[in-house]
This record gives sequence, structure tokens and C-alpha cells, in this order.
Amino acid sequence: MPSNDILFQPIKIGDVELPNRIVMASMSRARTDNPDLVPVALQAEYYRQRASAGLIMSEGTWPSEEAIGALQVPGLFNERQAEGWKRVTDAVHADGGRIFVQLGHCGAASHPDLHCGRLPLAPSAVGLEQPVFTPGGFKTSPTPQAMTLEDIERTIGDYAHATRLARQAGFDGVELHGIVGYLIPEFLNETFNLRRDHYGGSIENRARFVLEVLEAMIGEWSAGRVGLKLSPGVGLGRLQPTAQTLPTYEYLVAEVSKLKLAYLQLYHPAGDLGGTPVAALAAGTAAYFRPFYDGTIMANGGLTQESARAMLEAAHADLVSFGAPYIANPDLVERFRHGLPLAVADPETYYQGGERGYTDYAPAPR
Ligand SMILES: Cc1cc2nc3c(=O)[nH]c(=O)nc-3n(C[C@H](O)[C@H](O)[C@H](O)COP(=O)(O)O)c2cc1C
Repeated sequence: MPSNDILFQPIKIGDVELPNRIVMASMSRARTDNPDLVPVALQAEYYRQRASAGLIMSEGTWPSEEAIGALQVPGLFNERQAEGWKRVTDAVHADGGRIFVQLGHCGAASHPDLHCGRLPLAPSAVGLEQPVFTPGGFKTSPTPQAMTLEDIERTIGDYAHATRLARQAGFDGVELHGIVGYLIPEFLNETFNLRRDHYGGSIENRARFVLEVLEAMIGEWSAGRVGLKLSPGVGLGRLQPTAQTLPTYEYLVAEVSKLKLAYLQLYHPAGDLGGTPVAALAAGTAAYFRPFYDGTIMANGGLTQESARAMLEAAHADLVSFGAPYIANPDLVERFRHGLPLAVADPETYYQGGERGYTDYAPAPR
């Protein structure tokens, strides 16, 4: 591999220096098998194994109890969870890595069985009808309860509190989960957000929540330690792109640009976008939004080493992230560097279970 390969060039994102441009994207693996949702030692080992990534993004992590939408996914809303995460960040740092925590709220993609019988909170009482992983097996998400202004204010505060705990836990930064059908896309989408107050209606109003969350997170740390992941073209259940999606995200991305975050990560959908309201993204979500964003862009979604390099060389993005390839290739950076073949993960072990399919993928022999 030529030493001037752009994938292996260092980059500074916000306040953080990365030795290469290969990022491990967030992946829920549901190994936090304790009622307090405190990350376990096995998770520290899993992330330590992947420390050669330019940057690791943790699995989606709850910033509050209200954010919960699945079992065995870790939290970061109390001191014990922060202590559990400290084990993870110490392990990654000891092996020379860097790690951000991803903070995500499931919104309507949840179930009363995960909330002592209470309905999940969302911008409006519109159901996603998504399967939710509950103690009683998969159940369909119901029509949620519309958030009051107090609920919104408290939720913004929860993201800020989790950001404070992230610093305490030794993370290098925080990423706001703004993808698929969870709380943030629900606020952005006019078919899910039917609010008549200043969080609904116009594009500016629908974008207000995510911008206020980001400002609260920045207030707890600094803009250079905060990232955002968006997926304008990716739907979930009944929440799908509409004719308003592109204008909404164009506005949002331009507003986020003013915040001078560490980066904006854009998840490009799999499949053919022809004939959909987001057909204009077909040539690449990162390339589409580049003119709207003055800052560091991280491209994600179905990338290979070749397509990732081409994207960086074309300057459509500044760094690239890999999700599924990181499951079976803890040493993805070395495999790319030395042109080694990639192992393929078993989807049966993506979620839950112990070390099988989690920490037992070996580095490639060299
Ligand atoms: C098992 C699994 C769990 C995932 N969990 C999350 C998550 O918690 N947060 C998130 O933002 N994306 C999650 N994703 C999406 C990935 O981060 C990534 O955006 C997506 O897989 C596309 O990248 P890839 O084609 O390189 O896998 C998950 C993906 C997989 C395969």
C-alpha cells in the first residue's frame, strides 16, 4: 500500500487528532446484560480490540431512562454507568485508541414494557409500528405520547447531563445519534411531527430540537468534542423520506455548520434511490451535502476500502466510517493497510449473547 494512501493520513477533527481516517461506526451489540445497564468488562475488551481505528464510535447509548428502546443496551445517565464506561475508555486509551460515545433516544421506537407500562415519548402521537426488543420478546411499538414542552426541556437537559458524564468517563467526545426513525428524525419529519408549537410546522421549527440538543451538549464540553450522525435517506417503519426531507436536511446541515462541530457523519442508504423523494442522494449523501457544510464530513454506509478511498480522494468526505465490517475484523485498519482479506460476521451473533461473535474474531495472521 503506498504510504501516501489518503485513508492512512492523520486528521484533526475538532479538538481530537486521529492517526488515520478509518472510523468504527456505532453498533448496538446488546451485551450489557445487567439491570443497571452498566457496561461490562467484555465490552471493554471488544472496544480495546478495535483500538487501531482512527476513532471508535461507541454503540448507541441511552442519555436517560426515558430514551430506552431495547434490552441490554448501555446507558450513560448515572455515576455507575459512567464508572463502567471508564473501564472501556481506559482499555481503548491503553492500546492507543480514541473513543466517542454515541447518545441516542429511541422516541417512538420503544414500548411500554420497557417503561413500567408508560407510553414512550415522541414529538407527536404518531406510531412507527416498529418491532421492539422487550423482555417478552419482540413487540410492535404503540402510538407514543406527545411530549410536552417540559418533556422537551428535560430531554435536552438529559443529553447535556450525559455529555457531562461522558467527560467524566474519559471519552474523547460525544456523538448525537440522529439517524433512522428515532427521536431526532421524528422531530424533523413532517408526517411524525404534527406539533403546533415552535418545535413543529416549518422546517426551522422542526429542526429546533436537534439544534437545541447540540447547543446543550456543546455547553457541557466544547463544539470540538461533539459530532452528529444523520441519515436523511434512511427510513424506519412508517417514517420514510418525503418531498420535504431534502429541504429540511439542507437547512439543518447549514445551521449545524455554524456550530463548528468536530464532524458531521452522513449515513448513505443501501439500495436504489431511483423514484424516491431522495433520488438526488443517489450519487452519495456526503457528496450531496458537502456544499451545505463548512467542516469535517464523515461518510458512512456500504463502503469498501476502494469506495472509501475514492470518496476521500474526490473530497466528498474527510473521513469514512465502517459498521458491519468492524464486527468480524477488529484489525480493519491493518487489513486495509496490508491488503488482507476481510472476514465475514455471523448476523446471528450481532445482538446479545456473550463473547461468541463479539470478542472472538481474531486479527488476520500476517
Ligand atoms: C449490528 C448493528 C448495530 C447498529 N447499531 C447502531 C447504533 O447503535 N447506532 C448507529 O448510529 N448506527 C448503528 N448501526 C448502523 C451503523 O453504524 C452504520 O451506519 C451502518 O451499518 C452502515 O455502515 P456499514 O455499511 O459500514 O455497516 C448498526 C449497524 C449494525 C450492523
